[in-house]
Amino acid sequence: MSQEEVSLEARLEEQEAFDPPESFVEQANVSDPSIYEEFEENWPECWERAADLLSWEEEYDTVLEDGDAPFYEWFTGGELNASYNCLDRHVEDGAKNRAAIKWEGELGETRTYTYGELLNEVEAFAATLRDLGVEEDDVVTLYMPMIPELPVAMLACARIGAPHSVVFAGFSADALATRMNSADSEYLVTCDGYYRRGDALDHISKANEGLEDVEHEVSDVVVVDRLGDALNHSLGDNQHDYDELVAEHEGASVEPVSRDAEDMLFLMYTSGTTGQPKGVKHTTGGYLAYTAWTSHSVLDIKPEDTYWCSADIGWITGHSYIVYGPLALGTTTVMYEGTPDYPEKDRLWDIVEKNRVDVFYTAPTAIRAFMKWGQQYPDQHDLSSLRLLGTVGEPINPRAWKWYYKHIGNEECPIVDTWWQTETGGMMITTLPAINTMKPGSAGPPLPGIDAQVVDAEGDEVDAGKAGYVTVNNPWPGMLRTLYKNDERFINEYWDEYSDADADEWVYFPEDGAKIDDDGYITILGRVDDVINVSGHRLGTMEIESAVVGVEGVAEAAVVGGDHDVKGEAVYVYAIPEDGYEPNEDLEEQVVEGVVDAIGPIARPEEVIFTPELPKTRSGKIMRRLLEDIASGNELGNTSTLRNPEVVDDIKEQVAGD
Ligand code: PRX
Repeated sequence: MSQEEVSLEARLEEQEAFDPPESFVEQANVSDPSIYEEFEENWPECWERAADLLSWEEEYDTVLEDGDAPFYEWFTGGELNASYNCLDRHVEDGAKNRAAIKWEGELGETRTYTYGELLNEVEAFAATLRDLGVEEDDVVTLYMPMIPELPVAMLACARIGAPHSVVFAGFSADALATRMNSADSEYLVTCDGYYRRGDALDHISKANEGLEDVEHEVSDVVVVDRLGDALNHSLGDNQHDYDELVAEHEGASVEPVSRDAEDMLFLMYTSGTTGQPKGVKHTTGGYLAYTAWTSHSVLDIKPEDTYWCSADIGWITGHSYIVYGPLALGTTTVMYEGTPDYPEKDRLWDIVEKNRVDVFYTAPTAIRAFMKWGQQYPDQHDLSSLRLLGTVGEPINPRAWKWYYKHIGNEECPIVDTWWQTETGGMMITTLPAINTMKPGSAGPPLPGIDAQVVDAEGDEVDAGKAGYVTVNNPWPGMLRTLYKNDERFINEYWDEYSDADADEWVYFPEDGAKIDDDGYITILGRVDDVINVSGHRLGTMEIESAVVGVEGVAEAAVVGGDHDVKGEAVYVYAIPEDGYEPNEDLEEQVVEGVVDAIGPIARPEEVIFTPELPKTRSGKIMRRLLEDIASGNELGNTSTLRNPEVVDDIKEQVAGD
């Protein structure tokens, strides 16, 4: 590094606040700070601003219906169609030839769908689904990787009013079956396989294996042929080839069905405290208005932009900010099939340069990996097209933030660190990029109209600098409406903790710890429930635990998250072998395989630690916090309250010895 570079690094390291450049502010969609007051004074009518970004077939009568709180309803009486809003209206407005999706395959092939072409394919697939018998409100499961047919299928479902339930392609056969069973889903769209680091991965076998465990009859399965000759597969009786069906329906015209604002747009399963994934229900009007509004105000997306979110559509980030938000605004959204280090570690920067990407949104775990690989990779590319950067999914440490700011943004792009969840539908806490000063490591203030605070166990706001819990006092249009077919669990999971039901005062509890500073900036500390965040992926420790105890030879287990340089958190399994079983490498391998089979490779344990006992309190509760500290290499607090303090040294030794 030259002398000049060294002093630049040192300056950056000390700087704690960053203001958006004037050039950004001048062109931003939202740049008037009075928006905060405007939303506060005018709440809930302020949300009409979000609804105004959409085309409504029938105008809504009421912005917020709160008579049956916390079962809030938004834009009631309104009717619209999400696929119409993401496609037809842009074509009608003359954007037929604008690129809607620019797709990059891992091996280097590319596909571009203009808005006109995307609409045609969506109509053809919507006609296909109808012919197969899919009716309005039937849940269609989409078990697909990052190929263009996934957003096509989502929008085709939306067009005919059939909610989709996308299952992340990296999830296991078991996970697919659980989700199809829970949603009573009789239709599946999947594919033969996809590419990862140059290898053709078989996906259809996993799908077929999952189908065997679906308890009801599955009427039809549509299979996209992604791999061609690279994978031979045969189709079962009720299985159809996607291309053939779409060719048969080429040119079909399918009127977008009018959906009530509160009709379900999709289901998305996510992990919670218990073993059963939660089916988060999102609706058509509120969700679409909210994702369009946050794409406009936070991501500053304009129709002429090329925008890229490097998440997977199998998670909420991809739903909201690859598909629905960006397409509702009529922009060009980039999709990448593969891994960031294939064929080289500069792959993402190559895609940014080639497509002249304006706005880039990724996860801190990716940024930490880029840092580790070194700045020579972004340095090889012209990244000057970038105007704004974003992060999501987990806390970002100030060092990673500054690296991103300097080496990707060239100190010219604001960064939005956006806190939100599957349940919130869209962003909740983040700076507005043209308005607020950025503080690395802190997500920022709640967005206009979002009444979030940090409270103690009693629900009283904590003083600046003290740790507490995030809560949200008012509803917002993108919020989940319930957990699928489980209103009771919806209340228990999100509302019981801080609400006063008798007084009809409802407080949403996202189960995240946080701190707040004197300027009202919120720094997220992480989950306070049994959910861990591995590379920005949300995993339930209870789900992993039940996979571990399902392995023959394991008597008891505790699964916790431990700190990890790149992944943020990694999975640590502490397991007690059953009598007669040796804690050897074979058993370890079986535990690892058991977890991968039950959930998927993302949950692969970092370490499996066999121990004759788990540390327990006198009342018999496993001391998870202690196990987390051991896994993270932290100082251990007082262990004298344990019933069996002697096991701690044993376990520590094993972890240190590995
Ligand atoms: O703990 C928070 C963390 O991710 C959780 C939500 O996970 P999921 O529903 O999978 O959605 C991820 C993408 C929106 C939150 O409860 N999280 C999300 N964004 C941030 C974050 N933690 C810190 N900073 C963030 N920006």
